[in-house]
Amino acid sequence: MGFRQAWKILLISIISCCIIQSYHCNASDTIQQSWKLLVGETLTSASQVFEFGFFTPANSDKRYLGIWFKNIPPIKVVWVANRESPLKVSDSTVSLSISEYGNLVLLDGTQNVIWSSNVSVPTNNTVAVVLLDSGNLVLKDNVSGQSFWESFDYPCDTFLPGMKIGFNSKTGEKWLLSSWQKENDPSLGNFSIGISEQLSPQFFIWNKVTPYYRTGEWNGLKFIGLPYIDSAAYIIQFVFQQDFQEGTTYFTFLPNTSFLTFVELQSTGSVQVVQWTSGAPAWEIYATMVHAPCDIYNTCGPSAVCSKHNFPTCSCLRGFVPHSSDEWSKGNWTGGCVRRTELLCQQKGNSLSPGVGLQDGFFKLSGLKLPDLAAIFRLDSASECEKLCLNNCSCTAYAYVAGIRCMVWSGDLLDMQDYSYSGEDLFLRLAYSELGKRKRKRALIICSAVFSCLFLGFALFCLLKHKIYITGQKRKVARSFSLGDSCYISKDYTVESLWVGNLKKEDPIELPLIEFEVIVTATNNFKVENKLGEGGFGPVFKGKLKDGPEIAVKRLSNRTGQGIEEFKNEIVLISKLQHRNLVRLLGCCIEGEELLIIYEYMPNRSLDKSLFDASQKELLDWPKRFNIIQGVARGLLYLHRDSCLNIIHRDLKVSNILLDEEMNPKISDFGLARTFQKQQQLVHTHRVAGTYGYMSPEYALRGVFSEKSDVFSFGVLLLEIISGKKNSSFHYVEENLNLLNYAWKLWSEQRGLDFMDGTLINSFSPEEITRCLHVGLLCVQEHPRDRPTMADIILMLNSEMKCSSPKQPTFKFETYLDLGGSVKDNERCSINELSASLSQGR
Ligand SMILES: *[C@@H]1O[C@H](CO)[C@@H](O)[C@H](O)[C@H]1NC(C)=O
Ligand SMILES: *[C@@H]1O[C@H](CO)[C@@H](O)[C@H](O)[C@H]1NC(C)=O
Ligand SMILES: *[C@@H]1O[C@H](CO)[C@@H](O)[C@H](O)[C@H]1NC(C)=O
Ligand SMILES: *[C@@H]1O[C@H](CO)[C@@H](O)[C@H](O)[C@H]1NC(C)=O
Ligand SMILES: *[C@@H]1O[C@H](CO)[C@@H](O)[C@H](O)[C@H]1NC(C)=O
Ligand SMILES: *[C@@H]1O[C@H](CO)[C@@H](O)[C@H](O)[C@H]1NC(C)=O
Ligand SMILES: *[C@@H]1O[C@H](CO)[C@@H](O)[C@H](O)[C@H]1NC(C)=O
Ligand SMILES: *[C@@H]1O[C@H](CO)[C@@H](O)[C@H](O)[C@H]1NC(C)=O
Repeated sequence: MGFRQAWKILLISIISCCIIQSYHCNASDTIQQSWKLLVGETLTSASQVFEFGFFTPANSDKRYLGIWFKNIPPIKVVWVANRESPLKVSDSTVSLSISEYGNLVLLDGTQNVIWSSNVSVPTNNTVAVVLLDSGNLVLKDNVSGQSFWESFDYPCDTFLPGMKIGFNSKTGEKWLLSSWQKENDPSLGNFSIGISEQLSPQFFIWNKVTPYYRTGEWNGLKFIGLPYIDSAAYIIQFVFQQDFQEGTTYFTFLPNTSFLTFVELQSTGSVQVVQWTSGAPAWEIYATMVHAPCDIYNTCGPSAVCSKHNFPTCSCLRGFVPHSSDEWSKGNWTGGCVRRTELLCQQKGNSLSPGVGLQDGFFKLSGLKLPDLAAIFRLDSASECEKLCLNNCSCTAYAYVAGIRCMVWSGDLLDMQDYSYSGEDLFLRLAYSELGKRKRKRALIICSAVFSCLFLGFALFCLLKHKIYITGQKRKVARSFSLGDSCYISKDYTVESLWVGNLKKEDPIELPLIEFEVIVTATNNFKVENKLGEGGFGPVFKGKLKDGPEIAVKRLSNRTGQGIEEFKNEIVLISKLQHRNLVRLLGCCIEGEELLIIYEYMPNRSLDKSLFDASQKELLDWPKRFNIIQGVARGLLYLHRDSCLNIIHRDLKVSNILLDEEMNPKISDFGLARTFQKQQQLVHTHRVAGTYGYMSPEYALRGVFSEKSDVFSFGVLLLEIISGKKNSSFHYVEENLNLLNYAWKLWSEQRGLDFMDGTLINSFSPEEITRCLHVGLLCVQEHPRDRPTMADIILMLNSEMKCSSPKQPTFKFETYLDLGGSVKDNERCSINELSASLSQGR
C-alpha cells in the first residue's frame, strides 16, 4: 500500500508539473508489480522519446493502450496492445497492472480482462515493465533482467529500428506488420508485410493472402527490385539475420543517432518511410513506396513487363504475344502474354536434340525488376547457371546476380518491371527463330518508315499551313474539328491526318467532346472567381463537372486570332502522350468560335505560385523540390526519347510546371511543342516563340532548336528551383551578373550552398543541392554539344556519378534584351508569325 500511496503523490506532483510546464513533465519508465497505470497517466522512456499509456484516436469513441512518439507532431502511435478489443471512452476506470501471475493485464471498469500479455512467467519471480528508448515495452524479471514478453514481438503497422520482420521456422512464429483498418481504427486491416521463405528472402506486402507488392530478393546490400530507393537504404540500414539453430530468419534495421525513423504500412497498402531530424518542427515523409500500377504485383500478367514511363503500360516480352489481343488492346492485362514460337525442347517432349543451329537460346533483357518465384542456386558462375537452365526444359529464364548468384525460373514469369536505368539483366529462353537478326532488321525498316512518314508529314503540314494562311481560312481549321461526335480530328482533313499520320492511320485522335453548355455550367459561366490564370493564348478556369472530377479549362481567347495552331498542336500531341509527369488532357470542346481544352485540375497550381511567393515557398522544402526536379526530368526524358513521338517542348518554365495534391510535378502547355526526328536533331525556325529567360542562346539568336534547347530551359528551371529566384528578374548588382552567371560564380568559388534559397535551411541536403547546381550549370552551357542529354541528367541527379566541370555561361541575356527592344519579363512573343516554319537537316 505504501508504494501505491507514493505513486499517487508522485502522480499529483506530475499532474501539477504538467499544468505548469506542459512539456517538461517527467514520468517514470517502469511499472513495478502491484502498481497500476490509469487513464491520463503515462510511462515515458528514459530519454523522453516514447510514451506509453491510454489514447483515443481522433473522431473515435474507443480507447486503446499504446505507445507513441512523445513531443513530435503529429502524434504517431507505433504500437497498440488491444487493437482488436477496444475499450469505450465512457469507461474511465480502466487500468493496466501486473497480475499475480506476473502478466500484464488490461482490465475494464468491471474488472474483466480485455487484453493480456499471456505468457507463462515462473511463479516466484517479481517482474517489472519497462518502456525502453527504442519503443519496446518489456516485461522482465526485476532481479535478473530476463525478459518474458516484449511488444516488439507483436508488431502493429510500424517498423522501428531494432524490430524484426521475419519468421521462426521451428516454432512457426511470424513477425509481420499489419495495417490499421482505417486512419483512426487500429483494428486489423487488409494489408500485411512479411518476408518470403526463400534462400535470399524478399519483403512482401500481402492484401489479405494475395501478394500485393514485393521488393525483390536481398543481395546482401539491398533489395534488387528497388534500384531507385538506394537513397532510402541510406537512412534505413537493413540487416539480415539468419540463425539456423534457433530457426529464425528476419530483417531488422539499425537506429541512427542523427535522426528518428520509422516505416509505416498504411491502411491503403502503401508504405511510408518517415523521419525526424533533431530540431525539425514535425515528421517528414522521406519516401512513399508502392505506386500503382507497376508496383502492384503482377499488374501486367505473366511474361509481360510493366513500365511506368511508357504507354501502353504493359508490353510483352520479346518473343511473346498477348494471350488475348482483344482484352490486351482494351487495357485488360490480366491474361498476360504467351510464347509466339514453342521452344524446341517442348516440341520434342523433354528429349534434347543435338541438332545444329536450331537450339533454343537466351536473349538478354536489361534493366528489369526480375520476376518472382525464382529458384536460387549458389553456383559459382553465370555459365554454370546458363547450363543448369538450358538442360532443364521447364526452365524459362535465368539471371546471375551478385550476392544471390544463380536464379532460375520455371513456368510463368510474373511481376516484372522495366527500370531502364538500373535493375538487373534477365536471360530469357527463346526458340532459335526468335533470336535471329532478321527480326531486328524488320524493326529497323519499320522505324525508318515511321520516321520518313513523320518527316513528310511535317513538311507537308508546313506547306499547307502556309497555304491556309494565305487563303485566310483560319476559321475553317477550327471547324474541321467538330466533325463526328467526339473530339475527333477527321482523317480526311489533310493537315491533321498528316500531322498525326506518323502513328497509325486507323488511330485517329479521339478525345471526349464536351459540350459547351457543360463547360459553362462547370465553370459557372467562366466566372472571374474561377479564373486560375492566363495561359499561352487565353485564360484558364477552374470548374467541376456534374458528379465528376474537378477540371481546368483553357479557353482560347477569340479576340487574338492567334493560337489556333497552338490549340491544335496541344490536342494532337498531348492526347498521344501519357506519363505521370505530364498533364493529362480530359477532353476538348469546339463550338462556333469557342475552342476549349479540358485538363485534369491540379490543386497546387503552378510551381511559380509557390516558388516565387514569400509566404508559400516555405512549404516547398528541399525533398519536395528535389522530387519536382526529378519528376520534370523524367517527364522531359519521356518527351525526348521514350514517347512514340519525339517531342521538344520549347516552352519549359516554372509556370508550366503544375503540381498535383502530392506536389508531384506535371509538365503542361504543349502549344509550342514540336516533334522531331532522332537523326535530325537540329531544327530551324523563323518563328521564334518561347519565354525569354528560358530560351537557349542558339534558339533566341538563330532560331535553331533541338532537344538541347529544352535541356537549357531545364537548367534554368533547376537553378530557379534551388535559388527560389526568377532568372528574368534576378540581377546581382555588384558585378552585373544574371542568375546563371551568379550561380556559376558561387559554384566556381566552392560556395554553391550560398546559392540556395534561404528557406531551405532546415531541409536541405548539401550533397543533393551541390549535385543539382552542378547539373543545372552543365545544362545552361552555351554550346548545345556541351549540355548533357535528359538521360544523362537523370543519372547524374540520382547518383554520385562524376561529371565534367561546367563551362562558364557567357551568354548574357540582358545584351540580347537590349537588342530585342521592348520585351518584357515572362512575356511570350512570336516573331514573324506569318512565315512558315521549315525543318532542315543538319
Ligand atoms: C526531465 O525532463 C527534462 C527534459 O524533458 C530532462 O532534461 C531532465 O533530465 C528530466 N529529469 C529527470 C529526473 O529525468
Ligand atoms: C493465452 O494463451 C493460451 C495459449 O497459449 C490461449 O489458449 C488463451 O486463449 C490465451 N488467452 C488470452 C486471454 O489471450
Ligand atoms: C518462492 O520464494 C520463497 C522465498 O522468496 C521460497 O520460500 C519458496 O520456496 C519459493 N517457491 C518456489 C515454488 O520456488
Ligand atoms: C525492483 O528493482 C528495483 C531496483 O532494481 C527496486 O527498487 C524495486 O524495489 C524492486 N521491486 C520489487 C517489487 O522487488
Ligand atoms: C479491405 O477489404 C475489404 C474486402 O475486400 C474491402 O471492402 C475494404 O474496403 C478493404 N479496406 C481497405 C482499407 O482497403
Ligand atoms: C546515420 O545517417 C547518416 C546519414 O545518412 C550516415 O552517414 C551515418 O552513417 C548513419 N549512422 C549510423 C550509425 O547508421
Ligand atoms: C480480362 O481478361 C481475362 C482473360 O484474359 C478475362 O478472363 C477477364 O474477364 C477480363 N476482365 C475484364 C474486366 O474484362
Ligand atoms: C527441372 O526444373 C523443375 C522445376 O524447377 C524441377 O522440378 C525438375 O526437377 C528439374 N529437372 C531436372 C532434370 O533437373
